[in-house]
Amino acid sequence: MATAEFVVVANRLPVDRVVTADGEEIWRTSPGGLVAALEPMMHRVDGAWVGWAGMPDTELAPFDADGIHLIPVALSERDVTEYYEGFSNDTIWPLYHDVIAPPQYHREWWEAYVSVNLRFAEAAAAAVAQGGTVWVHDYQLQLVPEMVRSLRSDVTIGYFHHIPFPSHGLYAQLPWRDQVLRGLLGADVVGFQRAQDATNFVAAVKRRLGFETKASAITLPDGRRSQARAFPISIDTTPYRELAQRPDIRARAVEIREGLGNPKKILLGVDRLDYTKGIGHRIKAVGELLDQGRVSVEDVTFVQVASPSRERVDAYVHLRDEIELAIGRIDGDHDTLGHTAIRYLHHGFPREEMVAMYLAADVMLVTALRDGMNLVAKEYVATRADNRGVLVLSEFTGAADELRQAVRVNPHDIEGLKDAIITAIEMPPAEQGKRMRALRKRVLENDVNAWSSSFLSALRDARESRDAAGPPRPRTRRSDPSAEER
Ligand code: G6P
Repeated sequence: MATAEFVVVANRLPVDRVVTADGEEIWRTSPGGLVAALEPMMHRVDGAWVGWAGMPDTELAPFDADGIHLIPVALSERDVTEYYEGFSNDTIWPLYHDVIAPPQYHREWWEAYVSVNLRFAEAAAAAVAQGGTVWVHDYQLQLVPEMVRSLRSDVTIGYFHHIPFPSHGLYAQLPWRDQVLRGLLGADVVGFQRAQDATNFVAAVKRRLGFETKASAITLPDGRRSQARAFPISIDTTPYRELAQRPDIRARAVEIREGLGNPKKILLGVDRLDYTKGIGHRIKAVGELLDQGRVSVEDVTFVQVASPSRERVDAYVHLRDEIELAIGRIDGDHDTLGHTAIRYLHHGFPREEMVAMYLAADVMLVTALRDGMNLVAKEYVATRADNRGVLVLSEFTGAADELRQAVRVNPHDIEGLKDAIITAIEMPPAEQGKRMRALRKRVLENDVNAWSSSFLSALRDARESRDAAGPPRPRTRRSDPSAEER
Protein backbone atom coordinates (compact mmCIF):
# COMPACT_ATOMS: atom_id res chain seq x y z
CA MET A 1 0.00 0.00 0.00
CA ALA A 2 2.26 2.78 -1.22
CA THR A 3 0.09 5.69 -0.11
CA ALA A 4 2.05 7.78 2.39
CA GLU A 5 3.33 11.12 1.06
CA PHE A 6 5.75 11.44 3.98
CA VAL A 7 7.44 8.50 5.70
CA VAL A 8 9.64 8.82 8.78
CA VAL A 9 12.04 5.93 9.37
CA ALA A 10 13.64 5.65 12.82
CA ASN A 11 14.91 2.76 14.91
CA ARG A 12 12.16 3.31 17.47
CA LEU A 13 8.47 3.95 16.95
CA PRO A 14 7.39 7.05 18.88
CA VAL A 15 5.09 5.08 21.20
CA ASP A 16 5.09 3.43 24.61
CA ARG A 17 2.88 0.57 25.71
CA VAL A 18 0.88 1.81 28.71
CA VAL A 19 -1.75 0.26 30.91
CA THR A 20 -4.77 2.51 31.51
CA ALA A 21 -6.56 2.90 34.86
CA ASP A 22 -9.08 0.23 33.84
CA GLY A 23 -6.34 -2.26 33.00
CA GLU A 24 -6.43 -1.87 29.22
CA GLU A 25 -3.09 -1.97 27.34
CA ILE A 26 -2.78 0.82 24.78
CA TRP A 27 -0.07 2.58 22.76
CA ARG A 28 0.58 6.20 23.63
CA THR A 29 2.90 8.49 21.69
CA SER A 30 6.05 9.18 23.68
CA PRO A 31 6.61 12.84 24.52
CA GLY A 32 9.89 13.30 22.57
CA GLY A 33 10.62 16.44 20.56
CA LEU A 34 10.92 14.56 17.28
CA VAL A 35 7.29 13.41 17.40
CA ALA A 36 6.16 16.89 18.39
CA ALA A 37 8.03 18.38 15.43
CA LEU A 38 6.79 15.89 12.89
CA GLU A 39 3.24 15.34 14.13
CA PRO A 40 1.73 18.35 12.32
CA MET A 41 3.40 17.24 9.09
CA MET A 42 2.20 13.64 9.63
CA HIS A 43 -1.37 14.90 9.98
CA ARG A 44 -1.23 17.45 7.14
CA VAL A 45 -0.03 15.04 4.51
CA ASP A 46 -0.71 11.35 4.57
CA GLY A 47 2.17 10.35 6.89
CA ALA A 48 3.56 7.11 8.28
CA TRP A 49 6.31 6.19 10.74
CA VAL A 50 8.39 3.03 10.26
CA GLY A 51 10.20 1.75 13.37
CA TRP A 52 10.72 -0.91 16.03
CA ALA A 53 8.22 -1.12 18.89
CA GLY A 54 11.01 -1.92 21.39
CA MET A 55 10.08 -5.55 22.11
CA PRO A 56 12.00 -8.46 20.57
CA ASP A 57 10.29 -11.29 18.72
CA THR A 58 6.98 -9.47 18.37
CA GLU A 59 5.24 -9.21 15.01
CA LEU A 60 2.76 -6.34 15.00
CA ALA A 61 0.44 -5.25 12.20
CA PRO A 62 0.49 -1.53 11.27
CA PHE A 63 -1.71 0.54 13.61
CA ASP A 64 -2.60 4.13 14.44
CA ALA A 65 -1.75 5.90 17.72
CA ASP A 66 -2.89 9.48 18.41
CA GLY A 67 -3.55 9.90 14.69
CA ILE A 68 -0.11 8.74 13.52
CA HIS A 69 0.08 5.73 11.24
CA LEU A 70 2.74 3.36 12.59
CA ILE A 71 4.43 0.58 10.65
CA PRO A 72 6.27 -1.74 13.04
CA VAL A 73 9.47 -3.51 11.97
CA ALA A 74 10.04 -6.74 13.92
CA LEU A 75 13.44 -7.49 15.47
CA SER A 76 14.28 -10.96 16.72
CA GLU A 77 16.19 -11.45 19.98
CA ARG A 78 19.26 -12.07 17.83
CA ASP A 79 18.70 -8.84 15.84
CA VAL A 80 18.51 -6.95 19.13
CA THR A 81 21.84 -8.44 20.22
CA GLU A 82 23.69 -8.00 16.92
CA TYR A 83 22.10 -5.01 15.18
CA TYR A 84 20.88 -2.85 18.09
CA GLU A 85 23.14 -3.64 21.08
CA GLY A 86 26.02 -4.81 18.89
CA PHE A 87 26.69 -2.83 15.72
CA SER A 88 24.61 0.25 16.56
CA ASN A 89 25.54 0.66 20.22
CA ASP A 90 28.87 -1.15 20.63
CA THR A 91 30.47 -0.31 17.27
CA ILE A 92 29.06 2.90 15.78
CA TRP A 93 28.08 4.67 19.03
CA PRO A 94 31.55 4.52 20.67
CA LEU A 95 33.39 5.10 17.37
CA TYR A 96 31.33 8.20 16.53
CA HIS A 97 31.73 9.52 20.09
CA ASP A 98 35.50 9.78 19.73
CA VAL A 99 36.18 6.22 21.02
CA ILE A 100 35.48 7.20 24.66
CA ALA A 101 34.81 3.44 24.97
CA PRO A 102 36.57 1.04 22.59
CA PRO A 103 34.39 0.13 19.59
CA GLN A 104 33.95 -3.60 18.97
CA TYR A 105 34.20 -4.77 15.37
CA HIS A 106 32.44 -8.03 14.55
CA ARG A 107 31.59 -9.24 11.08
CA GLU A 108 28.36 -10.97 12.23
CA TRP A 109 27.15 -7.69 13.74
CA TRP A 110 27.77 -5.92 10.43
CA GLU A 111 25.82 -8.59 8.56
CA ALA A 112 22.91 -8.19 11.00
CA TYR A 113 23.09 -4.38 10.53
CA VAL A 114 22.86 -4.77 6.74
CA SER A 115 19.92 -7.15 6.90
CA VAL A 116 17.96 -5.13 9.49
CA ASN A 117 18.60 -1.89 7.56
CA LEU A 118 17.20 -3.63 4.48
CA ARG A 119 14.07 -4.60 6.44
CA PHE A 120 13.49 -0.94 7.40
CA ALA A 121 14.18 0.21 3.83
CA GLU A 122 11.74 -2.30 2.36
CA ALA A 123 9.02 -1.24 4.79
CA ALA A 124 9.58 2.42 3.88
CA ALA A 125 9.72 1.70 0.14
CA ALA A 126 6.45 -0.23 0.38
CA ALA A 127 4.70 2.59 2.28
CA VAL A 128 5.77 5.70 0.37
CA ALA A 129 3.55 7.13 -2.37
CA GLN A 130 4.83 7.84 -5.91
CA GLY A 131 7.11 10.90 -5.74
CA GLY A 132 6.76 11.07 -1.91
CA THR A 133 9.36 11.83 0.75
CA VAL A 134 11.24 9.51 3.11
CA TRP A 135 13.06 10.96 6.11
CA VAL A 136 15.50 8.52 7.76
CA HIS A 137 16.83 9.14 11.28
CA ASP A 138 20.07 8.33 12.98
CA TYR A 139 23.05 6.05 13.15
CA GLN A 140 21.14 2.78 13.49
CA LEU A 141 19.93 3.20 9.89
CA GLN A 142 22.82 4.64 7.90
CA LEU A 143 22.38 2.21 4.99
CA VAL A 144 18.66 2.89 4.59
CA PRO A 145 18.92 5.99 2.33
CA GLU A 146 20.81 4.12 -0.42
CA MET A 147 18.61 1.03 0.00
CA VAL A 148 15.40 3.05 -0.37
CA ARG A 149 16.85 4.82 -3.42
CA SER A 150 17.65 1.54 -5.14
CA LEU A 151 14.10 0.32 -4.46
CA ARG A 152 12.32 3.62 -5.22
CA SER A 153 14.23 6.07 -7.42
CA ASP A 154 11.12 8.32 -7.63
CA VAL A 155 11.20 9.46 -3.99
CA THR A 156 13.04 12.26 -2.23
CA ILE A 157 15.19 11.03 0.64
CA GLY A 158 16.45 12.93 3.67
CA TYR A 159 18.68 11.60 6.44
CA PHE A 160 19.37 13.25 9.79
CA HIS A 161 22.27 12.15 11.96
CA HIS A 162 21.49 12.86 15.62
CA ILE A 163 24.95 12.00 16.97
CA PRO A 164 28.44 13.32 16.08
CA PHE A 165 30.22 12.32 12.89
CA PRO A 166 33.89 11.75 13.76
CA SER A 167 37.04 13.06 12.15
CA HIS A 168 38.52 10.92 9.39
CA GLY A 169 41.35 9.69 11.62
CA LEU A 170 38.81 7.85 13.77
CA TYR A 171 36.22 7.08 11.10
CA ALA A 172 38.88 5.28 9.06
CA GLN A 173 38.95 2.51 11.71
CA LEU A 174 35.53 1.26 10.60
CA PRO A 175 36.04 -1.89 8.49
CA TRP A 176 32.86 -1.01 6.53
CA ARG A 177 33.62 2.71 6.20
CA ASP A 178 33.01 2.93 2.44
CA GLN A 179 29.72 1.04 2.54
CA VAL A 180 28.41 3.33 5.29
CA LEU A 181 29.32 6.48 3.32
CA ARG A 182 27.57 5.12 0.24
CA GLY A 183 24.55 4.25 2.37
CA LEU A 184 24.25 7.83 3.64
CA LEU A 185 24.84 9.30 0.18
CA GLY A 186 21.59 7.71 -0.96
CA ALA A 187 19.96 10.77 0.65
CA ASP A 188 19.40 14.05 -1.22
CA VAL A 189 20.13 15.89 2.03
CA VAL A 190 22.33 14.47 4.79
CA GLY A 191 21.78 16.58 7.91
CA PHE A 192 24.12 16.86 10.90
CA GLN A 193 24.01 18.64 14.26
CA ARG A 194 27.15 20.78 13.90
CA ALA A 195 28.96 22.30 10.96
CA GLN A 196 32.02 20.27 12.03
CA ASP A 197 30.11 16.98 11.65
CA ALA A 198 29.10 17.90 8.09
CA THR A 199 32.71 18.90 7.31
CA ASN A 200 33.99 15.58 8.68
CA PHE A 201 31.49 13.67 6.54
CA VAL A 202 32.33 15.57 3.33
CA ALA A 203 36.06 15.08 4.01
CA ALA A 204 35.52 11.33 4.50
CA VAL A 205 33.56 11.11 1.23
CA LYS A 206 36.28 12.93 -0.66
CA ARG A 207 39.09 10.89 0.83
CA ARG A 208 37.52 7.48 0.75
CA LEU A 209 35.34 7.60 -2.35
CA GLY A 210 37.06 10.37 -4.32
CA PHE A 211 33.71 11.99 -5.24
CA GLU A 212 33.70 15.61 -6.29
CA THR A 213 32.79 17.94 -3.38
CA LYS A 214 32.25 21.67 -3.25
CA ALA A 215 31.44 23.12 0.19
CA SER A 216 28.33 21.20 1.27
CA ALA A 217 27.58 19.73 -2.18
CA ILE A 218 28.71 16.26 -3.19
CA THR A 219 28.40 15.08 -6.80
CA LEU A 220 28.03 11.34 -7.22
CA PRO A 221 29.41 9.43 -10.21
CA ASP A 222 25.95 9.29 -11.84
CA GLY A 223 25.70 13.11 -11.67
CA ARG A 224 23.25 13.09 -8.76
CA ARG A 225 23.89 15.64 -6.01
CA SER A 226 23.75 15.20 -2.27
CA GLN A 227 23.92 18.06 0.25
CA ALA A 228 25.65 17.63 3.64
CA ARG A 229 24.75 20.46 6.03
CA ALA A 230 24.21 21.30 9.68
CA PHE A 231 20.67 21.60 11.06
CA PRO A 232 21.04 21.85 14.86
CA ILE A 233 18.08 20.07 16.45
CA SER A 234 16.09 21.52 19.32
CA ILE A 235 13.10 20.83 21.56
CA ASP A 236 9.43 21.64 21.54
CA THR A 237 9.66 24.52 24.03
CA THR A 238 5.89 24.91 24.63
CA PRO A 239 5.37 22.16 27.24
CA TYR A 240 8.43 23.32 29.21
CA ARG A 241 7.27 26.93 29.26
CA GLU A 242 3.73 25.95 30.16
CA LEU A 243 4.63 23.45 32.87
CA ALA A 244 7.04 25.96 34.43
CA GLN A 245 4.10 28.33 35.04
CA ARG A 246 1.81 25.73 36.65
CA PRO A 247 1.32 26.41 40.38
CA ASP A 248 1.37 22.69 41.28
CA ILE A 249 4.73 22.23 39.53
CA ARG A 250 6.20 25.33 41.17
CA ALA A 251 5.00 24.00 44.51
CA ARG A 252 6.62 20.67 43.69
CA ALA A 253 9.93 22.46 43.04
CA VAL A 254 9.75 23.98 46.55
CA GLU A 255 8.92 20.55 47.97
CA ILE A 256 11.96 19.04 46.20
CA ARG A 257 14.20 21.64 47.85
CA GLU A 258 12.69 20.91 51.24
CA GLY A 259 13.09 17.17 50.69
CA LEU A 260 16.81 17.75 50.18
CA GLY A 261 17.09 19.63 53.49
CA ASN A 262 16.83 23.13 51.96
CA PRO A 263 20.45 23.45 50.85
CA LYS A 264 21.60 26.89 49.69
CA LYS A 265 22.35 25.53 46.22
CA ILE A 266 21.14 22.53 44.25
CA LEU A 267 23.26 21.21 41.39
CA LEU A 268 21.51 18.95 38.88
CA GLY A 269 22.64 16.44 36.24
CA VAL A 270 20.12 14.66 33.98
CA ASP A 271 21.37 12.05 31.55
CA ARG A 272 20.89 8.59 30.16
CA LEU A 273 23.46 6.50 32.03
CA ASP A 274 25.95 6.65 29.16
CA TYR A 275 29.76 6.93 29.15
CA THR A 276 29.57 9.85 26.70
CA LYS A 277 27.86 12.06 29.28
CA GLY A 278 30.87 12.69 31.54
CA ILE A 279 28.91 11.74 34.68
CA GLY A 280 32.04 10.34 36.34
CA HIS A 281 33.99 13.56 35.68
CA ARG A 282 31.20 15.59 37.24
CA ILE A 283 31.07 13.34 40.31
CA LYS A 284 34.83 13.56 40.72
CA ALA A 285 34.72 17.36 40.59
CA VAL A 286 31.92 17.56 43.17
CA GLY A 287 33.70 15.01 45.41
CA GLU A 288 36.93 17.01 45.35
CA LEU A 289 35.12 20.28 46.12
CA LEU A 290 33.66 18.57 49.20
CA ASP A 291 36.98 16.96 50.19
CA GLN A 292 38.74 20.32 49.96
CA GLY A 293 36.03 22.13 51.91
CA ARG A 294 35.29 24.48 48.99
CA VAL A 295 31.63 23.48 49.39
CA SER A 296 29.89 21.89 52.38
CA VAL A 297 27.27 19.15 52.39
CA GLU A 298 24.84 21.42 54.29
CA ASP A 299 25.08 24.13 51.64
CA VAL A 300 25.26 22.21 48.37
CA THR A 301 23.47 19.09 47.15
CA PHE A 302 24.11 17.49 43.78
CA VAL A 303 21.17 15.57 42.30
CA GLN A 304 22.07 13.15 39.50
CA VAL A 305 19.25 11.61 37.50
CA ALA A 306 20.69 8.76 35.42
CA SER A 307 18.05 6.96 33.40
CA PRO A 308 18.80 3.30 32.63
CA SER A 309 20.05 2.72 29.09
CA ARG A 310 21.35 -0.20 26.94
CA GLU A 311 21.74 -2.26 30.09
CA ARG A 312 23.01 -5.43 28.43
CA VAL A 313 25.96 -3.77 26.67
CA ASP A 314 29.21 -4.40 28.64
CA ALA A 315 30.45 -0.82 28.57
CA TYR A 316 27.18 0.33 30.17
CA VAL A 317 27.29 -2.42 32.81
CA HIS A 318 30.81 -1.32 33.82
CA LEU A 319 29.87 2.34 33.76
CA ARG A 320 27.01 1.74 36.19
CA ASP A 321 29.31 -0.08 38.60
CA GLU A 322 31.90 2.72 38.42
CA ILE A 323 29.40 5.52 38.95
CA GLU A 324 27.61 3.82 41.80
CA LEU A 325 30.89 2.99 43.55
CA ALA A 326 32.09 6.60 43.24
CA ILE A 327 28.82 8.06 44.52
CA GLY A 328 28.65 5.56 47.40
CA ARG A 329 32.14 6.58 48.53
CA ILE A 330 31.47 10.31 48.35
CA ASP A 331 28.13 10.00 50.15
CA GLY A 332 29.70 7.74 52.78
CA ASP A 333 32.41 10.31 53.44
CA HIS A 334 30.25 13.43 53.48
CA ASP A 335 26.57 12.73 54.18
CA THR A 336 24.95 13.72 57.44
CA LEU A 337 21.62 12.40 58.67
CA GLY A 338 19.98 15.54 57.28
CA HIS A 339 21.99 16.14 54.08
CA THR A 340 23.15 14.11 51.12
CA ALA A 341 26.15 15.09 49.03
CA ILE A 342 24.98 13.32 45.88
CA ARG A 343 21.38 12.16 45.51
CA TYR A 344 21.45 9.52 42.79
CA LEU A 345 18.29 8.43 40.96
CA HIS A 346 18.65 5.54 38.55
CA HIS A 347 15.31 5.91 36.81
CA GLY A 348 13.42 8.14 34.42
CA PHE A 349 10.73 10.64 35.46
CA PRO A 350 7.64 12.09 33.81
CA ARG A 351 8.13 15.47 32.20
CA GLU A 352 6.18 17.27 34.97
CA GLU A 353 8.66 16.03 37.59
CA MET A 354 11.63 16.93 35.36
CA VAL A 355 10.37 20.50 35.03
CA ALA A 356 9.98 20.72 38.82
CA MET A 357 13.59 19.54 39.17
CA TYR A 358 14.80 22.09 36.59
CA LEU A 359 12.99 24.82 38.54
CA ALA A 360 14.56 23.65 41.80
CA ALA A 361 18.09 23.50 40.34
CA ASP A 362 20.34 26.53 40.79
CA VAL A 363 23.02 25.00 38.57
CA MET A 364 22.54 22.58 35.67
CA LEU A 365 25.63 20.46 34.94
CA VAL A 366 25.96 19.25 31.33
CA THR A 367 29.51 17.91 31.15
CA ALA A 368 29.35 15.44 28.25
CA LEU A 369 32.68 14.28 26.82
CA ARG A 370 31.01 14.19 23.41
CA ASP A 371 27.36 14.75 22.55
CA GLY A 372 25.60 15.30 19.21
CA MET A 373 23.46 18.10 20.66
CA ASN A 374 22.29 17.59 24.29
CA LEU A 375 18.66 18.53 24.60
CA VAL A 376 18.69 18.55 28.42
CA ALA A 377 20.62 21.83 28.25
CA LYS A 378 17.86 23.28 26.07
CA GLU A 379 15.08 21.90 28.30
CA TYR A 380 16.62 23.60 31.35
CA VAL A 381 16.85 26.92 29.53
CA ALA A 382 13.27 26.67 28.17
CA THR A 383 11.99 26.00 31.70
CA ARG A 384 13.71 28.98 33.37
CA ALA A 385 11.16 31.68 32.51
CA ASP A 386 12.23 33.32 35.80
CA ASN A 387 15.61 34.07 34.16
CA ARG A 388 17.45 32.42 37.02
CA GLY A 389 19.77 29.46 37.20
CA VAL A 390 23.15 28.78 35.61
CA LEU A 391 23.94 26.32 32.84
CA VAL A 392 27.41 24.76 32.97
CA LEU A 393 27.96 23.34 29.49
CA SER A 394 30.67 21.17 27.99
CA GLU A 395 32.28 22.56 24.86
CA PHE A 396 32.07 19.05 23.38
CA THR A 397 28.30 19.18 22.96
CA GLY A 398 26.51 20.36 19.83
CA ALA A 399 24.55 22.74 22.07
CA ALA A 400 27.79 24.63 22.87
CA ASP A 401 27.81 26.06 19.33
CA GLU A 402 24.56 27.87 20.06
CA LEU A 403 24.41 28.38 23.82
CA ARG A 404 27.34 30.77 24.05
CA GLN A 405 26.27 32.43 27.32
CA ALA A 406 26.54 29.22 29.34
CA VAL A 407 29.53 28.71 31.63
CA ARG A 408 31.66 26.65 29.24
CA VAL A 409 33.82 23.80 30.45
CA ASN A 410 36.27 21.22 29.22
CA PRO A 411 35.09 18.27 31.36
CA HIS A 412 38.48 16.54 31.08
CA ASP A 413 39.99 19.44 33.03
CA ILE A 414 38.81 18.58 36.55
CA GLU A 415 40.33 21.76 38.09
CA GLY A 416 38.60 23.88 35.43
CA LEU A 417 35.35 22.02 36.04
CA LYS A 418 35.59 22.62 39.80
CA ASP A 419 36.22 26.33 39.23
CA ALA A 420 33.27 26.49 36.82
CA ILE A 421 30.98 24.89 39.42
CA ILE A 422 32.10 27.45 42.01
CA THR A 423 31.59 30.29 39.50
CA ALA A 424 28.06 28.99 38.85
CA ILE A 425 27.26 28.60 42.57
CA GLU A 426 28.47 32.12 43.30
CA MET A 427 27.08 33.88 40.22
CA PRO A 428 25.12 37.02 41.23
CA PRO A 429 21.43 37.07 40.20
CA ALA A 430 21.93 39.97 37.77
CA GLU A 431 24.59 38.04 35.87
CA GLN A 432 22.41 34.91 35.88
CA GLY A 433 19.54 36.94 34.42
CA LYS A 434 21.68 38.48 31.70
CA ARG A 435 22.98 35.12 30.56
CA MET A 436 19.67 33.27 30.89
CA ARG A 437 17.78 35.88 28.86
CA ALA A 438 20.22 35.51 25.98
CA LEU A 439 20.11 31.69 26.21
CA ARG A 440 16.31 31.70 26.25
CA LYS A 441 16.09 33.95 23.22
CA ARG A 442 18.19 31.49 21.28
CA VAL A 443 16.31 28.36 22.42
CA LEU A 444 12.83 29.84 22.00
CA GLU A 445 13.59 31.18 18.51
CA ASN A 446 15.26 28.02 17.25
CA ASP A 447 12.86 25.37 18.45
CA VAL A 448 12.24 21.94 16.99
CA ASN A 449 9.65 23.30 14.56
CA ALA A 450 12.24 25.70 13.12
CA TRP A 451 14.60 22.71 12.83
CA SER A 452 12.19 20.44 10.95
CA SER A 453 11.03 23.31 8.71
CA SER A 454 14.57 24.17 7.69
CA PHE A 455 15.46 20.52 7.00
CA LEU A 456 12.31 19.93 4.98
CA SER A 457 12.81 23.12 3.02
CA ALA A 458 16.38 22.02 2.13
CA LEU A 459 14.86 18.72 1.01
CA ARG A 460 12.31 20.53 -1.19
CA ASP A 461 15.10 22.61 -2.76
CA ALA A 462 17.07 19.42 -3.40
CA ARG A 463 14.07 17.82 -5.08
CA GLU A 464 13.54 20.88 -7.30
CA SER A 465 17.14 20.97 -8.46
CA ARG A 466 17.08 17.22 -9.04
CA ASP A 467 13.93 17.53 -11.16
CA ALA A 468 15.55 20.41 -13.09
CA ALA A 469 18.73 18.37 -13.72
CA GLY A 470 16.81 15.42 -15.23
CA PRO A 471 17.45 11.70 -14.71
CA PRO A 472 20.85 10.49 -13.39
CA ARG A 473 23.53 9.37 -15.87
CA PRO A 474 24.03 5.63 -16.17
CA ARG A 475 27.09 4.65 -14.11
CA THR A 476 30.30 3.83 -15.93
CA ARG A 477 33.58 2.63 -14.51
CA ARG A 478 35.40 5.64 -15.91
CA SER A 479 33.16 8.16 -14.13
CA ASP A 480 33.36 6.32 -10.81
CA PRO A 481 36.87 6.59 -9.40
CA SER A 482 35.97 4.33 -6.51
CA ALA A 483 34.75 1.46 -8.70
CA GLU A 484 38.14 -0.23 -8.41
CA GLU A 485 37.78 -0.37 -4.64
CA ARG A 486 34.55 -2.34 -4.58
C1 G6P B 1 20.33 8.96 21.40
C2 G6P B 1 20.21 8.54 19.95
C3 G6P B 1 18.79 8.07 19.63
C4 G6P B 1 18.36 7.04 20.65
C5 G6P B 1 18.47 7.58 22.06
C6 G6P B 1 18.07 6.57 23.15
O1 G6P B 1 19.67 10.16 21.62
O2 G6P B 1 20.61 9.58 19.09
O3 G6P B 1 18.75 7.53 18.33
O4 G6P B 1 17.04 6.61 20.39
O5 G6P B 1 19.81 7.97 22.28
O6 G6P B 1 18.78 5.39 23.00
P1 G6P B 1 18.07 3.98 22.75
O7 G6P B 1 19.20 3.04 22.46
O8 G6P B 1 17.35 3.67 24.02
O9 G6P B 1 17.12 4.13 21.59
